[in-house]
Amino acid sequence: MKKTVVEATILKNEQIAPDIFDMILHTKDLSKNAKAGQFVKLYPDNNKNLLPRPISICGIDREKETIRLVYQKIGEGTCLFSTMKQGDKIRVLGNCGNGYNIFEDNKTHIFVGGGIGIPPLLEVCKQVKGEKIVILGFRTGQFLNKDFEKLGAKVYIATDDGSVGFKGNVIELMKKENIIGDYIYACGPKPMLQALTEYAKEKNIYTQVSMEERMACGIGACVGCVVKILENGSPVYKKVCKDGPVFNSLEVVYE
Ligand SMILES: Cc1cc2nc3c(=O)[nH]c(=O)nc-3n(C[C@H](O)[C@H](O)[C@H](O)COP(=O)(O)OP(=O)(O)OC[C@H]3O[C@@H](n4cnc5c(N)ncnc54)[C@H](O)[C@@H]3O)c2cc1C
Ligand code: FES
Repeated sequence: MKKTVVEATILKNEQIAPDIFDMILHTKDLSKNAKAGQFVKLYPDNNKNLLPRPISICGIDREKETIRLVYQKIGEGTCLFSTMKQGDKIRVLGNCGNGYNIFEDNKTHIFVGGGIGIPPLLEVCKQVKGEKIVILGFRTGQFLNKDFEKLGAKVYIATDDGSVGFKGNVIELMKKENIIGDYIYACGPKPMLQALTEYAKEKNIYTQVSMEERMACGIGACVGCVVKILENGSPVYKKVCKDGPVFNSLEVVYE
């Protein structure tokens, strides 16, 4: 489907953890074609100087014609979103990016998310069959862990400060628990994705990573979001907003 700007209605916009908000948007056009791992761009219309902000699709309900977004209040744009109320309208550009390849076979699927990289993994976890293992990393606290548990996943949590679960990062936790499986779906900060790629290579696990690069135009018109990707063995620049955000982990050149 061609990307389009729609006016969506906010059905819910609630805080679920410190600075973390859970937003449900009613939008028939975007929900009917949305793919797990894609993202939308929200327009902070109260401040026309701000560019639309990319937020991953965390849930898709085609019957109710909704998409779910979970976002962190971090700067001007997301602060504005956090003040919006049920019934408000918001302009949304979607659906953007490629999304994850979902393997539906009855195998072991591993989800590795760091902080605000966790939301897009929830819809993938909903769609796969077989065993589901989820490794969530936070600086402190936790969110969305119960949503993964409701999908039948075994959830492990790592926190930097040890406030919940294992004290340390997700890779240390995976090594300690010797987490292995057939597919990894990941999203989070670059150093985490880089270390995960090494882990997955050692264990021979097919891994897709979603890169949450900073973006400007978000539609492929500038080069604000390029990453180096190996194509037929040679490095080329790809645009995260158009060619990604999901890539085969072995093709990403981390620098
Ligand atoms: C494809 C994609 C999917 C994303 N999905 C989500 C999501 O599901 N939930 C969510 O909370 N956030 C997500 N983000 C990050 C989100 O877009 C930014 O946090 C948001 O744009 C910040 O806007 P702001 O106006 O509130 O903050 P700004 O005032 O623009 O920035 C505040 C601070 O955040 C930093 N920042 C801005 N963008 C990023 C970024 N992409 N990565 C790291 N630091 C950043 C800035 O450098 C600054 O220090 C995603 C980003 C991308 C590219
Ligand atoms: S943000 Fe402009 S090309 Fe990706």
